Amino acid sequence: MSAPHSSSSPAPGHFSPAPPLSGTVTVPGDKSISHRSLMLGALAVGETRIAGLLEGEDVLSTAAAMRAMGATITRDDDGTWRVRGVGVGGLMQPVEALDMGNSGTSTRLLMGLIASHGITATFTGDASLSKRPMGRVTDPLSLMGAAFMGTPGANGALRLPLTMRGLCPAVPIEYRLPVASAQVKSAILLAGLNTPGITRVIEPVPTRDHSERMLRGFGATLEVEVQDDGTRIISLTGEAELTAQDIIVPGDPSSAAFPVVAALLVPGSHVTVTNVGLNPTRAGIFEVLKAMGGDLTYINEREVGGEPVADIVVRHSTLTGIDVPPDIAPSMIDEFPILFVAAALAKGTTRTSGLDELRVKESDRLTLMAQGLARIGARVEEVEDGLVIHGTGGLPLGGGNEPPVIAASLDHRIAMSFAIAGLVTTGGLTVDDMRPVATSFPTFEPLLSSLGVVRA
Ligand code: S3P
Repeated sequence: MSAPHSSSSPAPGHFSPAPPLSGTVTVPGDKSISHRSLMLGALAVGETRIAGLLEGEDVLSTAAAMRAMGATITRDDDGTWRVRGVGVGGLMQPVEALDMGNSGTSTRLLMGLIASHGITATFTGDASLSKRPMGRVTDPLSLMGAAFMGTPGANGALRLPLTMRGLCPAVPIEYRLPVASAQVKSAILLAGLNTPGITRVIEPVPTRDHSERMLRGFGATLEVEVQDDGTRIISLTGEAELTAQDIIVPGDPSSAAFPVVAALLVPGSHVTVTNVGLNPTRAGIFEVLKAMGGDLTYINEREVGGEPVADIVVRHSTLTGIDVPPDIAPSMIDEFPILFVAAALAKGTTRTSGLDELRVKESDRLTLMAQGLARIGARVEEVEDGLVIHGTGGLPLGGGNEPPVIAASLDHRIAMSFAIAGLVTTGGLTVDDMRPVATSFPTFEPLLSSLGVVRA
């Protein structure tokens, strides 16, 4: 069963200097929580109801895959999604290849789910996803007994298209994460759901903890021990029984970061972004922007669906460059592209390090951001594991006589970061293809318009 990925020709977007931004906006639901809601709902007994699900292409890929493996998933007219699960262990063999589109999270988490079911599945994806390393999940899942047949990449690591065969019963493992990756952690825990005994993940550097929170919320027995050095040991008791839940998905902080940075950078702006998830394992970007002098205030702090949430009030600010501590990286791993844009307008130098993972996201985000920012006149040095950016001190960026065309390379966050950068240039810029934005933030362009951005 294929997901509804965009397939038309490239959709360039032109972004030019903006007037002061003002208004109150709401960003779509959190992508990580949306994927997990559908997956856990599909494994639970009963009907899970989800409010605020992100209806982006990545999440629709997950929905299509869970349907292909037996779950019933429908959407009410009011936007509530209903998932009737098959029970842990009840996934069925998909008839066709699972088309993952652009979505690394769908791919890696679903490999975990399938690893402990006695079924065979083939994963395919777009050009970006087909370049991304899968060895980080196939290695631990192979230890649990799954078998993988795929396309080896340059260094021998598996890439898509890839076929896997799960094993039931699978073998429980204790696995120390070699990379700080919530996707790898989650894949192993999801495999552990249908595995006898205790599956244990040792996480030296904490990453987003939505899987742990939600597994517990659905009734799994999961314990987390935090050691003195911050290492987390997560133990999941297998052959779990999950019970359907009512879920409210908070707004995605990774999406909120775009209007927040836009308001900080465009002089005279005053914007409120409501209902933003502020789980501490996700909110690093806002802490870094505050440390740079950004005028951000959290109001209406509350809890929604077991996650801390607030409205963020943002006023234009003169930012100052800082050294971003590498240990904050996992809590803002998807927000570096837009942070680099903020840094390009800050006073002084921003140094980032420890960001090797950015090279294996939807694109090599260090190289693409360095190249694109240089095209619009920013002073950027690319180092092995980060960027060093010497900001303009608030002056707009500029790109010569002709507005430059920036390559988004099928990466939604690169496209959106340069769209925001275009608002603070002298002559504007063109993002070569805005279609990838539909994977995570389908309302991005209307949201900018509602804040006063006028499109040519
Ligand atoms: C995600 C984890 C992160 C993040 C991705 C979503 C998740 O990836 O970049 O967008 O939902 O678990 P890694 O775990 O590979 O860092």
